[in-house]
Amino acid sequence: MASLAGRLLGLASLASAFVSRDGTGRLPAMGWNSWNEYECNISEGVFITVARQLVDLGLKDLGYEYVNIDDCWSDKELRRDATTGELIPDAEKFPRGIVKVAEEVHSLGLKLGIYSDAGTDTCGGYAGSLGYEELDAATFSKWGIDSEGQDLKYDNCNVPPEWADEYEYIPEEPANNAPPGYDWGTSNTAKRYRVMHDALQRQNRTIQYSLCAWGHAHVERWGNSTGHSWRMWGDIFPAWKGKEKWSWGLMPIVNQASLFWNYTDFGSHNDWDMLEVGNGDLTIEENRSHFALWCALKSALIVGTPLDTLALRKPILDILSNKELIDFNQDPVYGASAMPYKWGNDRPANTSDRDHPAAFWVGTSVKGIHVFLLNTHDTAVNMRAVFAEIPPLKSGGKGYLVHDMWTGEDLGIFRKYFELEVKAHDTAALTITKADGKASSNGLRCLSSLTLSFRETS
Ligand SMILES: *[C@@H]1O[C@H](CO)[C@@H](O)[C@H](O)[C@H]1NC(C)=O
Ligand SMILES: *[C@@H]1O[C@H](CO)[C@@H](O)[C@H](O)[C@H]1NC(C)=O
Ligand SMILES: *[C@@H]1O[C@H](CO)[C@@H](O)[C@H](O)[C@H]1NC(C)=O
Ligand SMILES: *[C@@H]1O[C@H](CO)[C@@H](O)[C@H](O)[C@H]1NC(C)=O
Ligand SMILES: *[C@@H]1O[C@H](CO)[C@@H](O)[C@H](O)[C@H]1NC(C)=O
Ligand SMILES: *[C@@H]1O[C@H](CO)[C@@H](O)[C@H](O)[C@H]1NC(C)=O
Repeated sequence: MASLAGRLLGLASLASAFVSRDGTGRLPAMGWNSWNEYECNISEGVFITVARQLVDLGLKDLGYEYVNIDDCWSDKELRRDATTGELIPDAEKFPRGIVKVAEEVHSLGLKLGIYSDAGTDTCGGYAGSLGYEELDAATFSKWGIDSEGQDLKYDNCNVPPEWADEYEYIPEEPANNAPPGYDWGTSNTAKRYRVMHDALQRQNRTIQYSLCAWGHAHVERWGNSTGHSWRMWGDIFPAWKGKEKWSWGLMPIVNQASLFWNYTDFGSHNDWDMLEVGNGDLTIEENRSHFALWCALKSALIVGTPLDTLALRKPILDILSNKELIDFNQDPVYGASAMPYKWGNDRPANTSDRDHPAAFWVGTSVKGIHVFLLNTHDTAVNMRAVFAEIPPLKSGGKGYLVHDMWTGEDLGIFRKYFELEVKAHDTAALTITKADGKASSNGLRCLSSLTLSFRETS
C-alpha cells in the first residue's frame, strides 16, 4: 500500500507546490467572472463597470479582487497576428485592447483575469494556446503592464487526437483503465497544463494559474505542482441536484468534494466551479448552502450573478458578503478544506450519493472549530452536532460556546451536543469554541451581552 501510494505521487511529489513568492494563489481566489451572466456577449464596458460595482457594493473590501474575462474575448476570424503570432483581441468588444481594461481595473485596486485553452480552440471556438504557450504567456504578461497580479483560467476543449491521453479518467464516469500504480502526472493532460505552467513561470509577473481540467486525468494528483487551483468536475448550473447536458447541480459536486476534499491546502485548491448564488431557481436556503459549502471547501469564490441589480437583491448580497464564512475560506493559518466527520443519511463513511452527499462537516480556523450541517432533504430536519463525534472536540468540561455564522449571534453554551432545525436544503454554519475562558476574545465579548442557555444532556 505504501509503495503504491509512493508510486502514485511519483513525479509530482518531486516538484514543489506552485506557491508564488508574492503569495499569489496561497488562498482561494475571490472575484467575478463574466461567463455565467454574459457568456460571449462581453465588452470592455462590462469589465470596467463590474470593477466599479465590486468597489461600490463593498465586495472589494471583503476580498473579491479578480475581474475575470472568460471565453470569447479574442477575434474569432483573425485569431492571431500574421507577423507576431500574438492573439488579437476582438476590436469591437475591446476597441482599446485588453491593456486598457487592465489599466482601468488596476486603477481601482483590482486584478484582471484572462482565459485561454490547452487545445487548438477554446470551448467557444476561438484560438486556443496549445503550441503557443510561451507566446501567449508573454502576451498576457505584457498586457498586465504593472505589478498587479493576474489570473489565467485555462480550459480543456478541442484537444487534438495526438494529445489524447493513453488512459482516461473522467470523474463523472469513473471507468479507469489505467494499470495499477499509473502516474497520472505523466498523462498528456498533465503535460499540456505543465507547458503553460513553465511558460508562466518564465514571465516577470506572477499569474494565478487556474486549471480548468474538469477533474480529468486525476488532476488533483498533479495540480499541486502545476497550478494554484484546478476544476474537479464538469460545469456547475443553478440547480440543487441532477444534471443538464454537461452541467451539474450542487449536490453531485458536493458529493465529489466529500471524497476528494483532502487535496486542498495553501497554494493548492480543488475548484468546485464558479458561484451560482443568485442565479436560476435556487431557493434562499439553496443559495445559502451553496455559499457556505464553497467557503467550507476553500473553493475559489468567483461571483457570477449580475452586479447591477445586486444592491436591490439584498438577501443575495448579504450571502455573498458574509464575513464569517469568507474568513473561514481565507483563513491565514489553516489551509485545509472542511471535511466530512459523519456522512448522515444512514450511510457509511466515504461512500458516494449524488442526491444525498455527506451532511456533517468540520473545519478549523483561527476563530475555532466550524461545523457545517447540510440538510439534503426536501423537508426541515433536526440536526445534531454531537461534540464527541467531532474529531477536534471532546465532550465535557465547561462545555462549548456555539455561535451562528449566518446571524453572527452566540447561541449558548452546550455540554454534549447542539441541536437545531435545519430547513430543507439549508446549511447551518456554526463556530464552536471552548467555554472555559479560553474562548476567543470575540466570543467572550459576545458572551457578556447574551442570555446564555445551558442544556444538560444525558
Ligand atoms: C503540495 O505540494 C507540497 C510540496 O510538494 C507538499 O508539501 C504539500 O503537502 C502538497 N499539498 C497537498 C494538499 O497535497
Ligand atoms: C449584449 O450586451 C449588451 C450590452 O452589454 C446588451 O445591450 C445586449 O442586449 C446583449 N445582447 C444579448 C443577446 O444578450
Ligand atoms: C522582465 O523585466 C525586465 C526589467 O523590467 C525586462 O528587461 C525584461 O525584458 C522583462 N522580461 C520579460 C520576459 O518580459
Ligand atoms: C487523500 O485521501 C486519499 C484517500 O484516503 C488518499 O489516497 C490520498 O493519498 C490523499 N491525498 C492527499 C494529498 O492527502
Ligand atoms: C436565490 O437565488 C435565486 C437566483 O437569483 C433567486 O431567484 C432567489 O430569489 C434567491 N433566493 C432569495 C430568496 O433571494
Ligand atoms: C474516509 O477517508 C478519509 C480520507 O479521505 C480517511 O481519513 C477516513 O479515515 C475515512 N473514513 C473511514 C471511516 O474510513
